[in-house]
Formats: sequence, C-alpha cells, structure tokens
Amino acid sequence: GYDVSKLLKTTGAVSYDPGFVNTAATSSAITYLDGDEGILRYRGYPIEELAEHSSFLEVSYLLIYGNLPTAAELDKFDQRIRRHTMLHEDLKGFFGGFPRDAHPMPVLSSAVSALSTFYQDSLDPFDDEQVEMATIRLMAKLPVLAAYAHKKSIGQPMLYPDNSMGLVENFLRLSFGLPAEPYEMDPIVVKALDLLLILHADHEQNCSTSTVRMVGSANANMFASVSAGINALFGPLHGGANEAVLNMLRDIQASGEPVEKFVERVKNKEAGVKLMGFGHRVYKNYDPRAKIVKNMAHEILAKLGGNDELLAIAMRLEEVALTDEYFISRRLYPNVDFYTGLIYKAMGFPEKMFTVLFAIGRLPGWIAQWREMMKDPETKIGRPRQLYIGEPERMYPSR
Ligand code: ACO
Repeated sequence: GYDVSKLLKTTGAVSYDPGFVNTAATSSAITYLDGDEGILRYRGYPIEELAEHSSFLEVSYLLIYGNLPTAAELDKFDQRIRRHTMLHEDLKGFFGGFPRDAHPMPVLSSAVSALSTFYQDSLDPFDDEQVEMATIRLMAKLPVLAAYAHKKSIGQPMLYPDNSMGLVENFLRLSFGLPAEPYEMDPIVVKALDLLLILHADHEQNCSTSTVRMVGSANANMFASVSAGINALFGPLHGGANEAVLNMLRDIQASGEPVEKFVERVKNKEAGVKLMGFGHRVYKNYDPRAKIVKNMAHEILAKLGGNDELLAIAMRLEEVALTDEYFISRRLYPNVDFYTGLIYKAMGFPEKMFTVLFAIGRLPGWIAQWREMMKDPETKIGRPRQLYIGEPERMYPSR
C-alpha cells in the first residue's frame, strides 16, 4: 500500500534493494571477484598465485599501495611496521576493564577504537602523512592488540613485542609465549597462518568492508572506521562463521547424529539451522579460497595432529550437501571459513580467537579500501534512502 510516487517526486528514480544485492556502492580498483566462475584477484593477481608465492606482508603492501613491492620497498614496509608494534603503556591497563571471560572480538574493536585517543596525530583522513602513520600503526598494533585480547581471555600475562620478529611470528609468540619461557616457533604454523591471512586479506564490498567505507564516508578517522569493521565482522553470518562452523561440527560429533540427518534438518529450516560455512552472497560456484584451505587442512592436520574426526565430519557434510538438490539448486558451496576453524584449532587457538584471526587478515583490505575512498573525488557520505511504511500523519491525542 506504499505510495512510491511520493519518494519519486523528491528524488527521481529510487531503487529498493535490501542487502544491496544488485547495488554497487562504489567503484574500486582493488579486488576483482567473479562469483559465477569462482575467480578472485587482488590488484589483478590471482589468489592462487599470491597464496603460493607471496607473504602476507607483501600482499598487504600490494592491496594498500597498488603494486607488488620491490625487495627494498618490502623491507622498508616491514621495518616501519616492526618499529611501531609497541603500545602506549596506558593501553595495557585498558584490558583490565573487561570481564575475564569477555569475547576477544569486542575487546579488539574497543581497543582499535581507543587507538584514536592515543595517536591523535594520525586522525586527519586528508593528510597523506597522517594516513600513512595510521596505516603503519594499525598494521603493527592490531595483531598485538589481538594477542593481548587472547591473553586477557585466558588470564595469562601479556608479553612485549619482539621486533626482531616479523608480523606473523611476533603475533604467534605474543599469543602463545610465556614470560621466562622460550617459545618454540613451529615453521609449519607460521607458514600456514601467513597463508590463511593472505586468503582473508580482501574481498571487495563485503559487510565489514562496506561498514568501514560507510563510517569513513563521514570522514571518520581510520581507527574509528576499522573498529566499526571489526564489529561487523563479529556477526555469525560474516566472520563469526568460522567459529560457528567448529561449534556445529562439535555438536554433530557430540550428539552422534548422522550427517545426513543434520543436513535434513538444515533443509527443513528447522529453528533456523543453517549449514554454517556454506553459501555466499557472491560465489555461486566453489569459493577459490575454500579450495586452497581444504587442500591445506589435510596437510596441516596430518602434521600438527588436529582433530581428524571433525575433519571427517566436515568432509562428509560437504559430500552430502554437494550432491543434494537443495544445495545444488541454490548454488550453495563451502566458503572460505568451512575448513579454517579446524586449522586454527590445530594451531592451538581457542574458538573465540578464530574471528579475531580473520580480522588480522582483513586489515590490509579495510585500510586499502578506506584509503581508496578518501582519494576518490566521487565519494559522498553514505546515506541510503528508505521506503517509509509506518503510520501516515496522525492526530496528537488531546490530554
Ligand atoms: N545453509 C542452508 N541454507 C542456506 C545457507 C546455508 N548455509 N545459505 C543460504 N541458504 C539458503 C537460504 O535459506 C535461501 O533459501 P530459500 O531460497 O529457500 O529461502 C537461499 O539459500 C539463498 O540464501 P540467502 O540467505 O538469500 O543468501 P544471502 O546471499 O542473503 O546470504 C550468507 C549469504 C549470509 C553467506 C548465507 O549463505 C549464510 O547464512 N551462510 C552461512 C553463514 C556463513 O557461512 N557465512 C560466511 C560467509 S563468507 C564470509 O564472511 C567469509
């Protein structure tokens, strides 16, 4: 019963597109995604090649600055990031303000938001030097904050970063190391985590990246915008899916319910049961990242001694789903997070940290997209329209 002509009168054409299924909110030169063909490229380079030949730091440089770095450029980027890993001492006290069992994601988003109170000299979105400082500070400090959020949630002391180490090594030591005990770095874990971070580094206008852009479109600073992105990523339909997948596999294992029966419940949409880690707004074919993670899961779990029974349940779920008409007709395939949780678990991370790991990976994408938007002369404050369906004008009751 809504009179669309009322809106048309004021604005010309209006599209109604819940979830922005068919609406491009921006142009971008960062990531190319073809969901029908299962293609993903960062700055033109196929994800498969970057996964095989590049490091996370190199891919971060590529996303943020547009080209693969030379050896000298990469070294400079690395050194600058290493120099900025330390946090202001007062920031450490900040972690004491949360309940002991706090989930590390909201702790991380709060800490990233708090960076704008500690680093007030890097808040101007239109000052190139300040934007560069915010970029380096975020790349350096977010993994440290993430490791501290983890330490907080398990009640262990926080270590100082060791700047003789690269980003991934430092993060692992801060997450698993203990004072006065040497931390034995497993090169398999370093390599696997580096690769998983590459696979998560950007995915064009997904929910958290669109959030970063929306908040940034009001000229909010980079810390504030990224903090908002972390909150969006926390949702179980987005980054929170990796944690939800492992919980789902565990529930199936604990209940002893046959996989086929669980899939039947999903198909019947029983109490909103979904096959977590399946489906994607854009991929209507196998997610190319999921392919890489699936291959890696076997190798890593064999080397690290992960939970084979959960992997077997995951593979059986995939097998059943991919031959079932419900999933075939809806073009539902495993997404990147169907297998990642099993790997993170084998590395020693608790479930609550899975989405935090996703946030570390997605950071360079958020930064690159925010920076691109700030330089784009077409950028306008994000402000969608609505179709008003509430009460028409009402008489205020006399009292
Ligand atoms: N399990 C069962 N059914 C599903 C699933 C699923 N995982 N995903 C979609 N469907 C069904 C829907 O119920 C719907 O069926 P209908 O046509 O009978 O109503 C149909 O497939 C289309 O799904 P939509 O919800 O309309 O698809 P949308 O693009 O809005 O959602 C999303 C995409 C949110 C990823 C969805 O597939 C989902 O909830 N998946 C599970 C959560 C998940 O894994 N999220 C991670 C996404 S990837 C990432 O962030 C890294």
